[in-house]
Amino acid sequence: MQTRVLTGITTTGTPHLGNYVGAIRPAIEASRRADVDAFFFMADYHALIKSGDAARIERSRLEIAATWLAAGLDPQRVTFYRQSDVPEIPELTWFLTCIASKGMLNRAHAYKAAVDKNTAAGEDADAGVTAGLYMYPVLMAADILAFDANQVPVGRDQIQHIEMARDLAQRFNHLHGHEFFVLPEVLIEEQVATLPGLDGRKMSKSYDNTIPLFAGGKKQLRETIMRIVTDSRAPGEPKDPDHCALFTIFQAFAGETDTAAFRQALLDGIGWGEAKQVLYERIETDVAPMRERYEALIADPGAIEEILQEGARKARAIATPKVAALREVLGLRTMSTAAVPGIQSKAAPKQGKMPRFASFRDADGNFRFRLFSADGEELLLSRSFSDPKMAGALQRRIKTLGATAAVLQVLPRGMSLELDGEAVASTPDYGDEPARDAALVQLREALDQLAAQE
Ligand code: TRP
Repeated sequence: MQTRVLTGITTTGTPHLGNYVGAIRPAIEASRRADVDAFFFMADYHALIKSGDAARIERSRLEIAATWLAAGLDPQRVTFYRQSDVPEIPELTWFLTCIASKGMLNRAHAYKAAVDKNTAAGEDADAGVTAGLYMYPVLMAADILAFDANQVPVGRDQIQHIEMARDLAQRFNHLHGHEFFVLPEVLIEEQVATLPGLDGRKMSKSYDNTIPLFAGGKKQLRETIMRIVTDSRAPGEPKDPDHCALFTIFQAFAGETDTAAFRQALLDGIGWGEAKQVLYERIETDVAPMRERYEALIADPGAIEEILQEGARKARAIATPKVAALREVLGLRTMSTAAVPGIQSKAAPKQGKMPRFASFRDADGNFRFRLFSADGEELLLSRSFSDPKMAGALQRRIKTLGATAAVLQVLPRGMSLELDGEAVASTPDYGDEPARDAALVQLREALDQLAAQE
């Protein structure tokens, strides 16, 4: 069993060393584990809340995508996409908005901080607060719940948001009497280092104390490292490695032996200038090959676009059937089937006009079946079974499932039906996405008709 691990990166800034050590590197390492099914996405809708600067958001999306790929993210293995390429996310945001309690959102840290600041300044409590900031946690819950994520690795400042996502998931499941959403867990990486910045405080864009990862090349990297604040001890005087940003940063890039050697050099009184040169060389060893890939990627944005489009296809293969199922549950159904007791739709198929199964033996002598719509169109073709009883059992299971419980994998030009993680039937190839989407509606309708008949 794989654990689905999902995290978002807000696309407002340019990645720095602190992002690399604290988020990018550990996330990519985790994504290589066999038991992890990783989803990483660029939270560009969230970025719109923080910034109205279109050029900056555009640049940040490109830089962040190139950085993650250059740092070794394998888009074949991981689902890597942009939030704004998945329309199911804003759709789910609305469904969740309708059950989110306003009181809960009033208590969100970011909103409360804005209100406190206004109150302290004697302003109206909501001065300058957008509804986007207020709704931030709901959009984030949709990011997570649309994909049934089990674990969400985030910084401590985001714990409350994950709790709200759980709350919304629970509320929805409870209201509709079914486990539609997986309850996500927060994952705080205790092992991961928080890097100090130039002034010794946590490295952060908001403190303006960051060391760039790729921007400005190795010249910029060296120059910034030379600006790290130190005490005034002269060369020859012993330095304290345990209270020194240089050493903490070095440790995040070096193995045990090199770290021990650097500690000794500080204790032996290495000059700060020389120590910074050692640190720079250590970091440059790791960064140089990544920077080379980064520059090649940045020079070919079309290739990145293709990778992200493929990522969006993979992401939507999960989110599309999920949101389709939720639409059913919420009553946003097609009117051609009457699901509401007591209300008979005129368009409902007449008695005898039902979807039906047709079994047959294929050329190899195996047993298979097709599912036809009430109008006689082929909807599904099953896999083959050597035992006809197995084929019959599958038909019965499909009948009892209904569209909300059936797991449909949406492929670019068709769909497959999965049971217990295995593809058991597939649709014809519909040629393109609009035709596939129309067929999805038809298939859901047919599955619901079958289930209603049971
Ligand atoms: N809010 C997160 C941050 O600022 C980014 C984010 C958006 C996110 N959606 C998410 C993280 C979903 C995890 C899961 O860091």
